[in-house]
Amino acid sequence: MSAADVAPKVAGNPAEPGADPLWYKDAVIYELHARAFHDSNGDGIGDFPGLLQNLDYVQDLGVTAIWLLPFYPSPLKDDGYDISDYTGINPSYGDLDDFKKLLEQAHRRNLRVITELVINHTSDQHPWFQESRSSRTNPRRDWYVWSDSDDRYRGVRIIFKDTELSNWAWDPISKAYYWHRFFSHQPDLNYDNPAVREEIWKILKFWADMGVDGFRVDAVPYLVEREGTSCENLPETHDVVKFLRRRLDEYYPHIFLLAEANQWPVDVRPYFGNGDEFHMAFHFPLMPRMFMAVKLEDRKPIIDILQQTPDIPENCQWGIFLRNHDELTLEMVSDVERDYMYDMYAFDVGARLNLGIRRRLAPLMEGDRRRLELMNGMLMSLPGSPVLYYGDEIGMGDNIFLGDRNGVRTPMQWSGGWNAGFSTADPERLYLPLLSNPVYGYQTVNVEAQRRTDHSLLSWMKRLIRVRKSSRAFSRGTIEFLQPRNHRVFAYIRQLGHERVLVVNNLSSLAQPVELDLGAFEGYIPIEMFGGNPFPRIGRLPYLLTLAPYNFYWFRLRRL
Ligand code: GLC
Ligand code: CA
Repeated sequence: MSAADVAPKVAGNPAEPGADPLWYKDAVIYELHARAFHDSNGDGIGDFPGLLQNLDYVQDLGVTAIWLLPFYPSPLKDDGYDISDYTGINPSYGDLDDFKKLLEQAHRRNLRVITELVINHTSDQHPWFQESRSSRTNPRRDWYVWSDSDDRYRGVRIIFKDTELSNWAWDPISKAYYWHRFFSHQPDLNYDNPAVREEIWKILKFWADMGVDGFRVDAVPYLVEREGTSCENLPETHDVVKFLRRRLDEYYPHIFLLAEANQWPVDVRPYFGNGDEFHMAFHFPLMPRMFMAVKLEDRKPIIDILQQTPDIPENCQWGIFLRNHDELTLEMVSDVERDYMYDMYAFDVGARLNLGIRRRLAPLMEGDRRRLELMNGMLMSLPGSPVLYYGDEIGMGDNIFLGDRNGVRTPMQWSGGWNAGFSTADPERLYLPLLSNPVYGYQTVNVEAQRRTDHSLLSWMKRLIRVRKSSRAFSRGTIEFLQPRNHRVFAYIRQLGHERVLVVNNLSSLAQPVELDLGAFEGYIPIEMFGGNPFPRIGRLPYLLTLAPYNFYWFRLRRL
C-alpha cells in the first residue's frame, strides 16, 4: 500500500443535501486574511479577487475549510476586529459580489468558509456607538456598558496590558465611562439589552443567508459583566450563546459555531453545553504545552493538560492549533511555565507582547525542519480539528519590529519575484513590508520554490494532511497514552471502532530507543502510514522502536 492508496475521504460538497452535518469533526482548517494573501489590483492590499485566484492552492494543500479573518468595514486599528459595519465588506478587499463569488468557488472545491463574528465589542466608529455616546437619552444609549464612575467591576484583568491601563475609558462627549475588554477604541456591547441580542441575530442571518458555513465567535467569555465577578464565563454569557445557537438550530441547523474562549479546560467545557452551545472551541492551554514539551524533551506537559480536559458531547470537537494571527498566548500557563516559555522562546524581549510571544512557528523552531515536522505531526494526530495559519505551511518567518501583532501578518510569499508575487504595487505601498532577510525572506522562502521539490516543507505538509485525512481515528477516535519508561517519547493510540493508529513522537534532539507495551495488540502488524511499509509483528515482549532526533511515526495497526 502506498501513500497514494490511502485515499482521502473528501468532505461532501457543502451545497449538497446529503453532506455530513458533523463535517467539522473531520475538518482541517486554514486560517487566512484576504489582505495578506494576494493583491489583484495593485494597491498593495490583498483582496477577495486575489484570494479567488489562489483558491486552487488552498484546495491543493488538502485543507477542508478556510477561516477568514475580519473583512468588514473598519478603521483597522485592530486589524479589522474593530468593526464599523457588520454587513459590509471593507472596500480594500472587494465587495459583496466578490465575497459571494468566493463562497461559490470555495464550495465548488469542497472548502467550507468560516467567517468572524466579533460581537463582544464594536469599533468606536460604529454608528451604534456614535449614537450611544451622542447623549444620555439616545435610544441606543443602553447598547453599550456605561458608568458614571470607573470603579465598577474592580479587579477584572486587563487583556491588552501593554497598551491599556483600565477596562474603562472616558467619553468626553457624553461625559461618562464606557467598558472595553480590549482596546479603548473597542467599546463592549451590552448583552443585558435584548435589542442587542436581536441585532446580533440579524447579522448571523445575513451571513447565513449568503451561504457561509460557520462563524468563529471572537472573545466569547466577556459578553456579560456582573459586579463581584471576574466578568468572564458568566452564566448570563452562556445564556447569550444558547440563545444564538437555538435560533441557528431552528433556522440554519447546518451552521457551525467555533468559540474563541481563551480559558482553562474546565471553563471552556461549559461552552459546549449539552451540545447546545458551540460545536467547536479552541483548546488554548494545549498549545503552549506542545512548545514546552519539545523544549523540555518531556511528554508530561501535554499529557497533563489532556488528562485535565473533560470529555465533550458527541456532536462537538476541539479546535487545535500551533500558531494564529495573535501572539502565542501564555495566559493559560502558570507563572513558572510562562517564565520558562519566555526564556526559551522569547529571549529577545522585543518578541514579547502582552502575555505572549509574537513569533511565527518556523522562527520559534529556529528553522529546524525536524522540529517543524514533529510539531505539525502532533498537531495532525492529537484529538481535535487542526487549524493551520497561512504561511506556516512554507515556514514563513516574522518581523518583530513591526509593532503589535503585525509581525506575523506580513504578505504571503508566493515567489522570489517582485513583491514575492503578492502585489504589483511599489514595495513602499504594501500594507505591511515583506520579509526580506536572508533566512526567511521571500527570495528564500516561497511557494514557487517549494513546489519544485517533493522534499520541501510545503510538499511534506500536503502529504501530512493527506495521510491525516486517511483515517478518521485521528479526527473522531479516542486517545490512550502509552507510558514507556523513556519520558522523551510521547506515544498514543487513536482508536475509532476497528481503526487503530499508533503515534510515536520523539520529543528529544537526540536519537532515542523506546520499549512500548503493546500487549493488547499482540499479533498485529504496524503499517507505517507515510510509506505503507509493514513493521515487525507485535509479539508478547515490549515493542522496540528507535527514533532519530525529533522523529515521529504513525502506524496503522492491522490484524493480519
Ligand atoms: C481576539 C482576536 C484578536 C483581537 C481581539 C479583540 O482575541 O483574535 O486579534 O485583537 O479578539 O477583538
Ligand atoms: Ca488590492
